Amino acid sequence: MKVLVVFGTRPEAIKMCPLVYKLKEADGVDCVVCLTGQHKEMLQQVMDAFGIKADYNLGIMKDRQTLTSITTTILESMEPLLKELRPDIVLVHGDTTTSYAAALAAFYQQIPVGHVEAGLRTGNIYSPFPEEMNRLLTDRICTYHFAPTEKNRNNLLAEGISKNVYVTGNTVIDAFQYTVKDDYQFASENLRIIDFKGCRVVAVTAHRRENLGEPLRNICNAIKRLANEYPNVAFVYPVHLNPAVRETVFDILSSMSNVHLIDPVDVLDMHNLLARSFMVMTDSGGLQEEAPHFGKPVLVLRTETERPEAVDAGTVKVVGVNENDIYNAAKMLFDNQEAYNAMAHAVNPYGDGHASERIVEVLRGIDC
Ligand code: UD1
Ligand code: UDP
Repeated sequence: MKVLVVFGTRPEAIKMCPLVYKLKEADGVDCVVCLTGQHKEMLQQVMDAFGIKADYNLGIMKDRQTLTSITTTILESMEPLLKELRPDIVLVHGDTTTSYAAALAAFYQQIPVGHVEAGLRTGNIYSPFPEEMNRLLTDRICTYHFAPTEKNRNNLLAEGISKNVYVTGNTVIDAFQYTVKDDYQFASENLRIIDFKGCRVVAVTAHRRENLGEPLRNICNAIKRLANEYPNVAFVYPVHLNPAVRETVFDILSSMSNVHLIDPVDVLDMHNLLARSFMVMTDSGGLQEEAPHFGKPVLVLRTETERPEAVDAGTVKVVGVNENDIYNAAKMLFDNQEAYNAMAHAVNPYGDGHASERIVEVLRGIDC
């Protein structure tokens, strides 16, 4: 069976590399990896961390790229590749424009597609944008659906998708076995200088398209107020390479001595940063799944989430993008030990670290 695995951004890579390892080990499976290159440096960081060399890289990234350009260049570059390789199945991941465009390109060649991380929903097609629509469309196109949780399976059932749905757990949990170590030494000098023993460390990220502009300014202003009020808290913010993100973040936060604006760190550094943090403030999807594993409270800088499982478990709180709301929610965790303890417990609603094996088992049972 020839399996073509396609991904293109940092979070997809982090969640697909553990699966690529298992596919490469499996008897009778020829695993071919194709990067769209929607991301460049941030994708390469993950490939290097996992030591995986892609067979193809479409290299489509442009500075300040548009959704249209990502979609059309992937469709155009994948067509000849799919014609040449004729895989038995294409695997895509999650909710990026790479996932959707690669699934569509495979559909146009009548090649079945499997969706890893299927069935996540907010119910609002504009938030997150364009991810909610990407995953709806991808689930429509796909023949095989690998849902991380029962809730995700139920979302698919509610849309009439009931065939070939498998609850596997999320491969992000699988990734920890390769990344997290008790005696870990940070590769990034920017992290080595942080005093994890002497101060509380807050890991911060924000990059979402719907947060660009005013919401991101609100997030940064809230962090600025908190940093002023709590000089002994270190805010460590690896800033996404999107220039539209960097302009706002550096403009508002670069003068703060206890806000460390650093370049994106590799996934080994990031997971070990999470493990050593006091809490996480983020609009990322992946971090909402990862931080609960380490028992770290997460304040989600968005108005909704497609990952309600850790909210239900009490470790994640959706605080929105209003400056005061963000400030108040963080202040509560700094000042009130009881409130902090109520959120700081390890939960694993997203899997047991064996999602990749389950996906490989399903694939091996398919008749090509
Ligand atoms: C993309 C995904 C989003 C995912 C995020 C993970 C879409 C539409 N968005 O959003 O779902 O959460 O990745 O980070 O699929 N850039 C670089 N180097 C890099 C990566 C990005 O310079 O390695 C810059 C480029 O100028 C690029 C811009 O960032 O044009 C935006 O990248 P893009 O992939 O379009 O959007 P993200 O916000 O990264
Ligand atoms: N991450 C990383 N380095 C960083 C910031 C984040 O490796 O500097 C990891 C993080 O641990 C998570 C993933 O990147 O696994 C999240 O990616 P991102 O926030 O870009 O996308 P999202 O999860 O929102 O789709």
